[in-house]
Amino acid sequence: MKILGIETSCDETAAAVVEDGVRILSNQIASQVEIHARYGGIVPEVASRQHILAIIPIIEQAMAEAEVAWSNLDGIAVTNGPGLAGSLLVGVNVAKAIALARGLPMTGINHLEGHIYANCLSSPDVVPHFPLVCLIVSGGHSDLVLMKGHGDYVLLGRTRDDAAGEAFDKAARILGLGYPGGPAIEQAARNGAAAIQLPRAWLNGDNDFSFSGVKTALLRLVESGQVSSVADAAASFQEAVVDVLVTKAVRVAKEHRVRQILLAGGVASNGLLRQRLVSSSPIPVLIPEPVLCTDNAAMIAACGYFRLQRGEVDELDLDVFPGLRLA
Ligand code: KG4
Ligand code: ZN
Repeated sequence: MKILGIETSCDETAAAVVEDGVRILSNQIASQVEIHARYGGIVPEVASRQHILAIIPIIEQAMAEAEVAWSNLDGIAVTNGPGLAGSLLVGVNVAKAIALARGLPMTGINHLEGHIYANCLSSPDVVPHFPLVCLIVSGGHSDLVLMKGHGDYVLLGRTRDDAAGEAFDKAARILGLGYPGGPAIEQAARNGAAAIQLPRAWLNGDNDFSFSGVKTALLRLVESGQVSSVADAAASFQEAVVDVLVTKAVRVAKEHRVRQILLAGGVASNGLLRQRLVSSSPIPVLIPEPVLCTDNAAMIAACGYFRLQRGEVDELDLDVFPGLRLA
């Protein structure tokens, strides 16, 4: 089964063709990052307009790279939340037009569920072993999710304030490292040491996260002139965030006696997080390759395959849900 995936929830216009939920035939991404970097963050209206300009060429490129004709497609998967309403609408409306014109089944995908399914794309032999715990860390979410089967989610923990990616972005701004912050912090940290003590919010053993305290602590140090090395500050901040994420994910996975831990979302491309999770977990860990951790449409198509297999088809009145939750 060949599924066309479409992703426009934030600042990446992406289209991909995936076979049987596991084999990437094409994966095209038009990033708007340079445009938004001028403003230090995403400007929603600029994002929607860029999606309008990029969506048709990106779909044509994905179809060409996959060497498939419209008649070879078996379905369409499109992100319909969470995300920016104006951005989501562009992808959803194009998906509807194609579904109507070609008589194809269409399914709306929760962007976070898509991130999880990026784990099926590393190699055709990689299959999720349920039950599993997934740590989803992106620009908008830090969720710990128990997955007992395809499409079956229980939320075990979430952030009470800033998401992990948001914390990286804010810390980068505080340190004058630019946007997007995650890769900038990781890059700067390579030349530094985690020598500065920053607070960790353990929340009395709760499964939730909180990253506003560590960000404020960093801000205070910078404002009071106590940071002499940006590289050390970046390394210390990265260490503090990774420490909490890994410790809580491993503890929750042990408590629920799961067979696997999955990592997902843009922050999952962080080298220290990947390395630390693997070295700290007695339970097998799955992590998508970095390019599949950040926003892409291959993960949406992969997730769409499993939804369409379960008969979860949406009609042409499919709406967008900016605050859509996984569970
Ligand atoms: O999943 P994603 O591409 O988009 C959302 O769904 O939000 O995640 C984007 C977030 C941004 O906050 C970005 O700074 C962060 O992921 N990120 C990273 C890294 N690469 C991207 N954070 C830490 N280290 C990285 N290497
Ligand atoms: Zn994302």
